[in-house]
Amino acid sequence: MNIFITGGTTGIGLSLAKLYLEEGHRVGVCGRHIDKFPSEIKNKYKLLKCYEVNVVNREELRAAMGDFANGQLDMVIANAGRSVGAKSKTPQFSVANDIVDINVKGVLNAFEFALELMVPQKKGHLVATASVAGFMGLPGAGAYSASKAAVLKLCESYSIDFKRLGIDVSAIAPGFIDTPLTQQNNHKMPFLMSSDKAAKLIKKALDKKKILYVFPFRMKIIVTLLDKMPRSWYRALMGLKMFNYSSDH
Ligand SMILES: NC(=O)c1ccc[n+]([C@@H]2O[C@H](COP(=O)([O-])OP(=O)(O)OC[C@H]3O[C@@H](n4cnc5c(N)ncnc54)[C@H](OP(=O)(O)O)[C@@H]3O)[C@@H](O)[C@H]2O)c1
Repeated sequence: MNIFITGGTTGIGLSLAKLYLEEGHRVGVCGRHIDKFPSEIKNKYKLLKCYEVNVVNREELRAAMGDFANGQLDMVIANAGRSVGAKSKTPQFSVANDIVDINVKGVLNAFEFALELMVPQKKGHLVATASVAGFMGLPGAGAYSASKAAVLKLCESYSIDFKRLGIDVSAIAPGFIDTPLTQQNNHKMPFLMSSDKAAKLIKKALDKKKILYVFPFRMKIIVTLLDKMPRSWYRALMGLKMFNYSSDH
């Protein structure tokens, strides 16, 4: 398969790239700082292509995906994303805008350019990395939660819209995965999982063309309960001291 992964320089994207390369697939990765991509992996796999691309820059991303695919693209994993870092009561709106641009428009851009290649093929697989944070409005992380909720809903809609075109759509909603993104968190992260283990689980779900994959299982149970409970209960629970912000701003 020809697989293009946005945000493949570190974390979940890098682990997925390694996994698909090990299985003999052609993999394209992009990130804004391609020098972060481990050189030993770059040197090991001839089937790998790296692109220094910001997913918000439409021209850059279209050119990279076109160059990689060379007419055939089987899967795109729109994985590039950023989070808030230290949570605060007062949103930093410049950060919030950046989060929405990368996490939502970045996915839209990747899907748009992938579809340009997949529609004539009458097959393909669009994948986006959402988050369990997309199921509820997390205190101190409004823009992140909103961006991931948007990704979940986009994928749900597209999974219906693109079925008739022969194109599958999957949304992946991980809990806490040990990556540079979560290494900046200073709060507890229950059920924290390594990115290599997460990539194995994600790949298994993608092999089965799951439309939505929420994991780890224990986190899925908690998120389902939080999502389904009356919103006044949810707000009261999140108002408890144990969920307090790490910063008072
Ligand atoms: N870790 C978790 O617990 C967790 C949980 C749920 C969902 N997620 C989601 O999983 C995805 C991957 O995150 P991660 O945890 O693996 O974090 P990570 O290690 O920080 O990886 C983020 C990747 O996105 C790239 N990226 C960020 N902004 C970009 C942009 N504008 N254009 C192109 N690439 C960009 C980064 O590369 P450059 O810095 O080189 O641009 C990096 O390769 C994100 O969408 C995140 O929201 C993570």
